[in-house]
Amino acid sequence: MAKTKTTYFCQNCGTQSAKWIGRCPSCNEWNTYVEEVVSKGDDLKIPGISSTSTQRASKPQLVNEISLSEQHRIKVYDKELSRVLGGGLVPGSLILFGGEPGIGKSTLMLQVALNMKNLKVLYVSGEESEQQIRIRAERIGINNPNGYILTETATQNIFKQIELLQPNLVIVDSIQTLHSAYIESSPGSVSQIRECTLELMRYAKESGTAVFLVGHITKDGSLAGPKVLEHMVDTVLQFEGDRNHVYRLLRTTKNRFGSTNELGIYEMQGSGLREVTNPSEILITAREELVSGVAIAATMEGLRPMLIETQALVGSAAYGTPQRSSTGFDLRRLAMLLAVLEKRCGFRLGIKDVFLNIAGGIKVEDPGIDLALVCAILSSNEDIPISPKVCFAGEVGLSGEIRPVNRIDQRISEAQKLGFEHIFISKYNKKGLDVKSYHIKITMVGKIEEVFGLLFG
Ligand code: TYD
Ligand code: MG
Repeated sequence: MAKTKTTYFCQNCGTQSAKWIGRCPSCNEWNTYVEEVVSKGDDLKIPGISSTSTQRASKPQLVNEISLSEQHRIKVYDKELSRVLGGGLVPGSLILFGGEPGIGKSTLMLQVALNMKNLKVLYVSGEESEQQIRIRAERIGINNPNGYILTETATQNIFKQIELLQPNLVIVDSIQTLHSAYIESSPGSVSQIRECTLELMRYAKESGTAVFLVGHITKDGSLAGPKVLEHMVDTVLQFEGDRNHVYRLLRTTKNRFGSTNELGIYEMQGSGLREVTNPSEILITAREELVSGVAIAATMEGLRPMLIETQALVGSAAYGTPQRSSTGFDLRRLAMLLAVLEKRCGFRLGIKDVFLNIAGGIKVEDPGIDLALVCAILSSNEDIPISPKVCFAGEVGLSGEIRPVNRIDQRISEAQKLGFEHIFISKYNKKGLDVKSYHIKITMVGKIEEVFGLLFG
C-alpha cells in the first residue's frame, strides 16, 4: 500500500515546505503554513464513485441542451428552512450550517432528520452519544422509521457506513470533530477541516446526495476554520439569536441555488424549535398603558415584511462620558443617527446616555428601521409616548432627510393587516404608490423635524 504524502503550503504565497514552519521564508508572513494531502496512497473509497469516474473528462455542452431535470428539489417539511434554502433541497448540494455553541444547531438538524420521513437520513454525530441523541429525539417528539444515527468521527469509517446504508440525506454534526486518516493534524485544525470537507464535497457531488455540515462559529462571528470552507460549499446558513431569548433567526450568507435575502424564524421551546409563521405578532409587545421610547418599525427581512418594536432610553449621563449601547442594531449606525439629530436637527443628545434595544433579541440590518429608531429616541428624550397604532418605514440620511426604502407597498400592507392605523414613510417613496388603495393613514415626510412636529409638536 502506497503511503499518503502530505506537504505544508503557505496559504499566502503558496511556497511549499516538507515541515511546518512558523514564518514563511518567501513572503515573511507568520503562521500561514497548512498541511495538505499531495497524494493519497490507497485511493479514497467514496460511495457511488468508482476511482475511474474522476478521470472522465467532461465535454462542452450547449447551454440550451443541458437538461433542467436536475433542478428538481427535495421537499423539506420545515417551511422556514425550505424557504431559506430557496424552495427545498437541491440533490448533491453541500450546505454549511453555522452558529454559536448552544444556539440550537443540533436540535434543528435532528428535527430535519426526523421530519424527512420519505427519505433515508443518516445523522452523523461526533459530539454526542447515541443515547444523548435519542433523548433529544424523544424531547422533540417526532419519530422517523428511516432515520439513522451514527456516532463516528473518522471520515473513512463514515464513508464505509454510507456505502452500506445508501442514505438520501447526510447530516454531519460537526465538521470540527471529523478527521481524515490522510492528515496527521488534530480534528478541528485548518487542514483537517479542509480535507474532510473536500472528501464530503466529492461524495455529495458525485453521488447526488445532499449533505449538511454543522460548523461552529468563533467569538467574532466567523466560522471556525478556514474561509475556504465557505467557498467550497454551495450554501452557507447561519443560525443566530440571543441565547437568553427564545427566538432564533436562520439566514443564508451564500446560496448557489436561491436568494440570500430570505430569513427564517424559530422559537426555542421545551420540545424543540417551532417555526414562527407570523413574526410580527410576537415581536410587538401588547401593552396596557402607553410608554415613551417605543416605536414600531415596518421592516423587510429578505422578502418578508415584519413589524418590529424598537425601544430607546435617553437619560442624563451619570458619568462624564455619555454611554451608548445597542442590542440588535449596529452601534456605529446609532452613533451616526445621534450625530444627525444633534447637528442637523439641534437636539442636545451629546450629553445624554442612549440605550437602544430591538425587541425579541433579533438583529436587524434593514436601513428602513432608522426612522422608527429616531422616533423612539426622540420619544424617550421628550418623555412623550407614541401611539401604538403608529408605525414607521424610512432610512435617515446624513443631512437629516428621510430617504425612501424598498418594497414600500409590502410594508404598508403588512402594517395595515396587523391593524396599524397610521404609517410614516419618506415622501420620496411617493412615486408609483397608490395611496388610495390602502385604508391605513399614510403620512409622507421629508425631514426629521417634520416627523417631530407631527408627533410631539
Ligand atoms: P443544541 O442544539 O445542542 O445547540 P448547538 O448544537 O448549536 O450547540 O441546543 C442547545 C440548547 O437548546 C440547550 O441549551 C437546550 C435548548 N433546548 C431547548 O430549549 N429545547 C429543546 O427541545 C432542545 C432539544 C434543546
Ligand atoms: Mg451541537
